[in-house]
Amino acid sequence: MNYKIALIKGDGIGPEVVNEAVGVLEAVGEKFGHTFEFVDVLLGGCATDAVGKSYPDGTAEKCRACDAVLLGAVGGPKWGSDKPPEQRPETALLAIRKDLGLYANLRPATLRPAMADACPLKKETAEKGIDLMMVRELTGGIYFGKRDRYQTEDRGLECTDLMAYSEQEIERIGRRAFELARLRRKKVSSVDKANVLETSRLWRSVMHRLAEEYPDVQYEDVLVDNCAMQLVRDPGQFDVVVTENMFGDILSDEASMVTGSIGLLPSASIGDTAPGLYEPIHGSAPDIAGQDKANPIATILSVAMMFRYSFQRAAEADAIEAAVDAVLAEGWRTPDIAEPGVTPIGTKEMGRLIRAHI
Ligand code: IPM
Ligand code: MG
Repeated sequence: MNYKIALIKGDGIGPEVVNEAVGVLEAVGEKFGHTFEFVDVLLGGCATDAVGKSYPDGTAEKCRACDAVLLGAVGGPKWGSDKPPEQRPETALLAIRKDLGLYANLRPATLRPAMADACPLKKETAEKGIDLMMVRELTGGIYFGKRDRYQTEDRGLECTDLMAYSEQEIERIGRRAFELARLRRKKVSSVDKANVLETSRLWRSVMHRLAEEYPDVQYEDVLVDNCAMQLVRDPGQFDVVVTENMFGDILSDEASMVTGSIGLLPSASIGDTAPGLYEPIHGSAPDIAGQDKANPIATILSVAMMFRYSFQRAAEADAIEAAVDAVLAEGWRTPDIAEPGVTPIGTKEMGRLIRAHI
């Protein structure tokens, strides 16, 4: 196959990690007989610097002409919240998610076998293993609701952010979660705040309707505060966790920390039509940008997700994941995951070793 891939290298360490992931794509292409065409797409702080806005006109169209999008990282202190919205990288991220219809954000939190010691939880907890898939609704809820800011008579300024969810939005993300669970350990935990929020009560009723359609999948409701607690108490209990946009933002960060290796975690954002967008969950780490210190593994594993979810090519995805596990098992570490006493290797060397295993 020939695949056309949009590359959003972005800011900070973004270009370095994307370069290594591209190298891995090419190695996979050689082994499995695929070719790739790459299209560079400007987005984020670098776009603000180049053309004055973080989400240049035509960005969505450029991406839509591709089979998948690979994103490094965007953001940095240079384009902080003191800047107008059109110059901020976050604005561009939200816009591309919405414009490409990427309503399902898949964030696996996996404790890779060679990294069990990195888990900050009790040894017995780590030994049970962690392999959960956070499915976060990505184009609705409070992130995209109406905002307001107005002057009150006696209480100064007041602001509102509206959280809205429709049955249709809940059903499509719910279905994704149940379908994914069927390919995994067949358990869905739906996270809400139904004891307080009306959107959560609707969420729960739609999920219950879906649960009846998937009798082979075990289903449970979990309140968001309890979920935050369970994630550090016993993360091994979770398989697929599905939740609304903001709860998912918060819980996916928590889940990633629980594995102890944020530099290893990929993500996929998908909708009903191509292209899907693939990116590491870590940020742009401007403090180490350009120093060959960044860990490219999360981006490389995002390419594995691209093969699995956009191209329906599990063998290629398995090959990438196996190569990463092999390199980790041999003891190679970038600085972020190097235990004391281990001499770390650089971004490029890590990429080279993984390619060699493919
Ligand atoms: C994420 C990030 C974004 C979000 C920010 C940068 C807008 O935290 O992808 O989780 O909140 O969705
Ligand atoms: Mg976040």
